[in-house]
Amino acid sequence: MHGSPDCELSSRSEAMAPNINSTLPLLLLFLLFTLHLSSVSAWKKEEFRTCNQTPFCKRARSRKPHSSSLFATDVAILNGALTANLRQPPPESPDQDQIKPLLFTLSVYQNGVVRVKIDEDPSLGPPKKRFEVPDVILPEFESTKLWLQRFQTETVDGDSGPSSVVHVADGYEAVLRHNPFEVYVREKQGKRRVLSLNSHGLFDFEQLRVKQEGDDWEERFKGHTDVRPYGPQSISFDVSFFDADFVYGIPEHASSFALRPTRGPGVDDSEPYRLFNLDVFEFIHDSPFGLYGSIPFMLGHGKARGTSGFFWLNAAEMQIDVLGSGWDAESGILLPESGSRIDTLWMSEAGIVDTFFFIGPGPKDVVRQYTSVTGMPAMPQLFSTAYHQCRWNYRDEEDVENIDSKFDEHDIPYDVLWLDIEHTDGKRYFTWDRVLFPNPEQMQNKLAAKGRHMVTIVDPHIKRDESFHLHKEATSKGYYVKDATGKDYDGWCWPGSSSYLDMLNPEIRSWWSEKFSLKHYVGSTPWLYIWNDMNEPSVFNGPEVTMPRDALHYGGVEHRELHNAYGYYFHMATSDGLVKRGDGKDRPFVLSRAFFSGSQRHGAVWTGDNTADWDQLRVSVPMILTLGLTGMTFSGADVGGYFGNPETELLVRWYQLGAYYPFFRAHAHQDTKRREPWLFGDRNTELMRDAIHTRYALLPYFYTLFREANTSGVPVMRPLWMEFPSDKATFSNDEAFMVGNSLLVQGIYTERAKYASVYLPGGQSWYDLRTGIIYKGGTTHKLEVSEETIPAFHRAGTIIPRKDRYRRSSTQMANDPYTLVIALNSSHAAEGELYIDNGKSFEFKQGAYIHRHFVFSDGKVTSSSLVPKASKTLFSSACVIERIIVLGHSSGPKKALIEPSNRKAEIEVGPLWLQRGKSAPVLTIRRPNVPVADDWTIKIL
Ligand SMILES: *[C@@H]1O[C@H](CO)[C@@H](O)[C@H](O)[C@H]1NC(C)=O
Ligand SMILES: *[C@@H]1O[C@H](CO)[C@@H](O)[C@H](O)[C@H]1NC(C)=O
Repeated sequence: MHGSPDCELSSRSEAMAPNINSTLPLLLLFLLFTLHLSSVSAWKKEEFRTCNQTPFCKRARSRKPHSSSLFATDVAILNGALTANLRQPPPESPDQDQIKPLLFTLSVYQNGVVRVKIDEDPSLGPPKKRFEVPDVILPEFESTKLWLQRFQTETVDGDSGPSSVVHVADGYEAVLRHNPFEVYVREKQGKRRVLSLNSHGLFDFEQLRVKQEGDDWEERFKGHTDVRPYGPQSISFDVSFFDADFVYGIPEHASSFALRPTRGPGVDDSEPYRLFNLDVFEFIHDSPFGLYGSIPFMLGHGKARGTSGFFWLNAAEMQIDVLGSGWDAESGILLPESGSRIDTLWMSEAGIVDTFFFIGPGPKDVVRQYTSVTGMPAMPQLFSTAYHQCRWNYRDEEDVENIDSKFDEHDIPYDVLWLDIEHTDGKRYFTWDRVLFPNPEQMQNKLAAKGRHMVTIVDPHIKRDESFHLHKEATSKGYYVKDATGKDYDGWCWPGSSSYLDMLNPEIRSWWSEKFSLKHYVGSTPWLYIWNDMNEPSVFNGPEVTMPRDALHYGGVEHRELHNAYGYYFHMATSDGLVKRGDGKDRPFVLSRAFFSGSQRHGAVWTGDNTADWDQLRVSVPMILTLGLTGMTFSGADVGGYFGNPETELLVRWYQLGAYYPFFRAHAHQDTKRREPWLFGDRNTELMRDAIHTRYALLPYFYTLFREANTSGVPVMRPLWMEFPSDKATFSNDEAFMVGNSLLVQGIYTERAKYASVYLPGGQSWYDLRTGIIYKGGTTHKLEVSEETIPAFHRAGTIIPRKDRYRRSSTQMANDPYTLVIALNSSHAAEGELYIDNGKSFEFKQGAYIHRHFVFSDGKVTSSSLVPKASKTLFSSACVIERIIVLGHSSGPKKALIEPSNRKAEIEVGPLWLQRGKSAPVLTIRRPNVPVADDWTIKIL
């Protein structure tokens, strides 16, 4: 959340300063100021650096292809890895710096992962150890290393010297080309490249030096000085994705899903994609500008080969260019015909080269490979996958009670009520404003009685107030981040003067996590969960609204080196706190705004402070798709748009789309009008209720998908090409998406839309989710749309489990029966899954869950278990399946036979919910009441 008038005032006046004539009357100034507060489009571009204002970026971008003269020597196998020294020819004149050799290491891991590290050689005495990001790579990843025994040599590309080749996986090998230095993964057969580094010779590694007389290393931006005591230390290199039609990934940006070229013919003056966690006030909807989180992981995908991925574990500011074909022409050197190759340029201010190549070849293989390094997404608690109601701020206990009861009055389920910063005593987190919230436990217990939960906000800035115990303790223990002079860093945020805990330090994280115990967090209950905002970190008076790069962390690490991971460590510590609070029994729920690679292990994220307009509704889809593709599957955008007042139609459309976001929360800025779903007349209440009901009915399906993500990394919300990887028409489609493999959803992004063009992929048919009307795949349909719903389709050949009874909350649906919706394909078959556990604890990790496989074929539906055979059942459910709907079943039989119980069930043809004439044939097996946990078969007679 962002948008305090105080912060506005300070930053605005600074930005305005050069333009203000000193004779300008005060009145006009005041007018300008108030005007600004109410204006909608207020992105303050000049607050933030461009690449040109960022020396390392400017330098890297001006390099010409083949300017790197590195070559590899001393190639050997050491500790199961291929190692070498990277050298440069001796300098031509004696006053040029002698470059010390760099250490190169290539290791191979199971399932097609290649890791390449390049760093300074510690034995050559660099002035400082460069920062390697800790606690992101899974400890168990190291155990999947394949111990290399040997390498082959080979002459490639007409080189005069050799290249070294090692085996990677079936059909793939990695090549270290010695001179010129290049590293790539290729297919064994035909030697086609998949991914390469330094093919264009843009590699550059600024080594740390001791400051000499006359070196001016300081950098200034907007009145801030970065002392840069270690001087330039950036790294840049090119990476090529072969046989790729598009590249994707590297969140977070509000831009298209398929990344557009930022340089090359026909691209005017674009910034590179920036990865630098920033609190951007009113971000615009189409920009490569860096937002709240950073995941330096990119995927390439093409029809010819499939998918590959590249990840650079580095938490410093990064800038990435996507180079349009022909980009190299400007240098005068034309590279050989590129085919569908996509070249990219990666630039980082500090750190080391620690990169991972993922060979795919399928899209799901690449996400599995990436999450094998950075971790599988955590399994959320069931309640957190339902609907959340948030606003800055629900004022007091009476307001909370009123909102809560209104949901019941209007028959709208919800699971979580959120409290923003105003619930605290003066923005001191872990406290309550005792006037507004005199009985916080009682308030939470009342919600809990309806199966509901509460979330409160806990931000990383600590109010510098001598009477605040947290500040006292953190100060005396020396737990704050230090400024460049070694004093506790003091920045301005919600509470005013604030300091920031040094979350890089594991001891401080552990101390922090204790603060969430019921004893320490007075007024909290086991039904309370947490929201981490402002953890980029946001500092209102800092450079680019964040912490100075020369601030100091644990171990002498500079903030510039770990900036993009600061929020990650804070999220981790908070999430650990909730686990500890429940003695390790219950899964945590923590929503974070900032994120980094690996954040998927710690909880959910959202896309930050969006705006109530149609373009922002539209861009939410590519943003969430990108997050999912890069591991962060539990994500969503603020429904309704955070800033501004949505028109009613936009709000309704947002609910209709948001109901399919993996994380579904409505939120609003404090200056906006109230916008709870019942405030816009009966008809609109009905439409929003309907959208929320859709989500609740689909919760069993969503939860099953969260479990799939938890075991495979494959996201809940997926781009179409993840399911249809060879259908080119899907590659740049970011208006539609898949929920799992069975549902296709297309948002409506314009006002008063009468029609929508919807591309339905594949050779399969699709059933309209509401009407059952059947549509052909592999073509674009022009569909009439109504206010009732956005287009959504059930893919033929799949089965979706639902719960169709509406309660107050997901928790209250625990014992409700299921409905199975079977969508038959042209061979009269379909299959699907259902995952169930207690929705709360970690016991599923020991096997306490139900996982069913449903198959329809030969006129019968069969349920079997996907749980590996265990000696005893650790989790059971008394729930039954109360209804089975079979879409596309053309015969009109009368009975269904259930085995093994040998009972009969009624069959009804054409149930009520299919009203229109054009519906596909459908039949419903009524009340089969088969236990969801059991094996059974139902034959249609
Ligand atoms: C699934 O989620 C849990 C946390 O809820 C996590 O501990 C586990 O590592 C995740 N992955 C797998 C494969 O269980
Ligand atoms: C129909 O669906 C079944 C189950 O998913 C699948 O095995 C089969 O290949 C599909 N048939 C066609 C023609 O796609």
